[in-house]
Amino acid sequence: MARLRAIFIGNTFISSYSLGKFAPIIIQMKIVILGPGAIGSLWACCLSRAGHSVSLWSQHQCDSIYLQQEHLPAIQFTSNNKDKLASADLLLVTLKAPNVMPAIKEIALNIAQQTIVVLMHNGMGTAEAINTLLPNNPLVIATTTHGAFRPKPSQVLHTGKGYTELGGYNDGGKRCDFLQPVFEHALPKTSWHCDIFTPIWHKLAINCIINPLTAIDQVKNGELSSAKYQEVITLLIDEINQVLKAEDIDVTHENLTTKVHQVIEATSDNYSSMHQDIFHKRPSEIDFITGYLLQRAKAHNISAPVNQTLFQKIKQIEQDHD
Ligand code: PAF
Repeated sequence: MARLRAIFIGNTFISSYSLGKFAPIIIQMKIVILGPGAIGSLWACCLSRAGHSVSLWSQHQCDSIYLQQEHLPAIQFTSNNKDKLASADLLLVTLKAPNVMPAIKEIALNIAQQTIVVLMHNGMGTAEAINTLLPNNPLVIATTTHGAFRPKPSQVLHTGKGYTELGGYNDGGKRCDFLQPVFEHALPKTSWHCDIFTPIWHKLAINCIINPLTAIDQVKNGELSSAKYQEVITLLIDEINQVLKAEDIDVTHENLTTKVHQVIEATSDNYSSMHQDIFHKRPSEIDFITGYLLQRAKAHNISAPVNQTLFQKIKQIEQDHD
C-alpha cells in the first residue's frame, strides 16, 4: 500500500507517496467533514485555513455553508457534494456516536476505498461497525478535548484549548501516522498513538463518571467535587478499573481517580454533553459510554451494578421524553 509522508513548509503541505522510490509531489488534502456541529465546524475552519480543500456533509441538504470562526472572515464551504465525497482523501466524522452508523450507511456507496475515515466523538463501539461496513478503508480513531460552541449556525467559537489524540483502528489506519502533522498544523496540540485504545478507554472512563451523574442531577461538572458525590465516584471507579484491567489497559485506581478529578476541576464551569442532551430532550450517547462499558463488563463476567443503575436512570429519562 502507498504510504503518504507529510511535511510542511510554511503553510504548504508537502507530501510524497513512497512506492519504493521517493517521488515528491505537493498536494493539499481533500477533506470532507461529516457532521459540522460545533467541533466539526471548528476543524473545518482550522483545516481550511491550514490550506486544505475542505467541504462539509450535513444533514441539512444545502449546497454551501458559510462559517466564521470567532470574528475571522467567514469561509464558504461546499456541502453535500457527491463528487467531493467520492474524491476525498479524508472523511472526518464529527457526529455524535448514535448518529455515526446511520449517516455513514447513507453515504457508504459514495466513499472510495482509499478514503481515510477518522471517527471523532465521545464513547466507543462505532469503529467496530464502521470497520465491518467499510472493511477496506483505513480507519482512525480520534479523541479531542478542544471546546467549541456555535452561538449561531454561521459562527463557531473556540471556547477551550485542548489536545487531540489519534491512532489507527485497523491495519490501514495504523499506517496513517502522517495525519498527526496535518492535524497539529491545523489545530495544535495533536499526538499519534500506536495504541489508541489506552487514551480512548481513559476518556470513556471519565465520561462514564461525569456524564451520567451531571445529566441525572442536571448540575455543572464542578458540582461533582462536592462531598455528596465522592462515594458514588469511588464505586464507579472501582467497577471501571476492573473492566479496564480486563481489557489490558494500563491503569490504576489512583491515576483514574486523579484524572477524573482533574477533568472535573478543569471543566467545572461546563455542562457535560450528556447534561445538555438530557436538558434539550435529545437522545444521549449513553449506549456508547456506560452502555459500551457494561457490554465489556459482561463479556469479562464483571458485575458493575453502580454503572448499571446510572445507565437505567438515563434510559428511563430518555423514555419519559419520548
Ligand atoms: O462529554 C463531555 O462533556 C466531555 O467529554 C467532558 C470531559 C465530560 C467534559 O464536559
